[in-house]
Amino acid sequence: MEDDLIKRAGEVLTAALVMHTDVVAARAQGIYVEDSHGKKYMDFSSGLATTNTGHNHPRVVEAIKKQAEAFIHSGCIFRYESLIVLAENLGRVTPPGIDMFFFSNSGAEAVEGSLKLARFVTGRKGIIAFTGGFHGRTYGAVSLTTSNIRYRKNYLPFLPGVYHSPYPYCYRCFFGQKRETCSMDCTEYLERLFKYTISPEEIACMIIEPVLGEGGYVVPPAAFLQKLRELCDRWGILLILDEVQSGMGRTGKWFASEHFGVLPDIMTVAKGIASGLPLSAVSSTKAIMSKWPAGAHGTTFGGNPVACAAAIATLAVIEEDGLLENARVVGSYALERLRAAREKYPCIGDVRGLGLMIGIEFVTHGRGPYTEGLKQIMAYCLGKGLILIESGVDKNIIRLAPPLIVKKEEMEKGLDILEEAIEKVTGSC
Ligand SMILES: Cc1ncc(COP(=O)(O)O)c(C=O)c1O
Repeated sequence: MEDDLIKRAGEVLTAALVMHTDVVAARAQGIYVEDSHGKKYMDFSSGLATTNTGHNHPRVVEAIKKQAEAFIHSGCIFRYESLIVLAENLGRVTPPGIDMFFFSNSGAEAVEGSLKLARFVTGRKGIIAFTGGFHGRTYGAVSLTTSNIRYRKNYLPFLPGVYHSPYPYCYRCFFGQKRETCSMDCTEYLERLFKYTISPEEIACMIIEPVLGEGGYVVPPAAFLQKLRELCDRWGILLILDEVQSGMGRTGKWFASEHFGVLPDIMTVAKGIASGLPLSAVSSTKAIMSKWPAGAHGTTFGGNPVACAAAIATLAVIEEDGLLENARVVGSYALERLRAAREKYPCIGDVRGLGLMIGIEFVTHGRGPYTEGLKQIMAYCLGKGLILIESGVDKNIIRLAPPLIVKKEEMEKGLDILEEAIEKVTGSC
């Protein structure tokens, strides 16, 4: 059955769209996905960091059913309660001052909307993004994306006016610095960009992931993000924080920026916002949004009534079930255990993360990327019923991103499987 479906998919679905596993799902509930043979998998990918409340959370499903029975679509022809209630409720958990929204469908769409908003409001054209970042695949978004050349190859020309500056990936510092003696060459690079390449007065916005997602689950030094805030304030540049992956409780706080004490001017939200229904948001302050006049941006499907109802329920579940606290507690346990594992297994080069957004970087003896080894480790884990996904330019980093409902015992079981895989597959790494 599964082989047949996979074969048929090959006939009708473009190979450009890659599936992370060959699992064919029959149903999914909580942290589990079940295939047609009844084999159960623990989904530690959360469907690409999206099912933060778990698959098919009963309260989310109930809200979807209720809204679907009333009506499914508006297309901006009429207003509806779920759209407005969602904006009100989201505004209560977003960083201070971020309380106006434009709802769209995907992360990339929210990025596009944010770029348009920043250019419109500032009247400037320049955009600064950070090397290693992932912001999506539509043309504006992919012009920013540099997490892997495969997203960019053969797509020239990109959006003009985009400049890249290194993301502070301290384990593999672009400038060869060591953490202990770091002199923040990454911020100096930006200052030089302004002196040599592009005047800061022509820059509309800087866009950055507060924790790098696809690029390898990298946590930047707080001082770096604080410096960006300072440069933006100095030059009248808008700071866009792309929280598509790091938001909605993934890091143990509603939004990752809270860990760094940095406020955005514009923020993107998607993935976890509606527990898997397509929904995203361009979020900003009233002062900025009020400069975006009627008709400057629009959508047919964005803010779909059913997706909004799912998002309202998602916010309530995260709050009422204490999922931020759970992400912090189970995440700390995982980090502690993985840091101990790093001492035991030389192929684990680095362990980093916040909440349940944890990166495990696999290396060879010479600290090169242990890509092939990780592929085998992940295949072993899949065979044992654990779904993991990788990240990083060399695909040598596990991104551990289970649903925020994951219990400590389930995390323990997942990490037991992972350690077993490391021993079995790469005993001599
Ligand atoms: C930080 C970030 N921004 C934007 C996107 C694009 O989102 P989508 O795939 O929904 O277009 C992603 C997707 O992984 C992401 O992680």
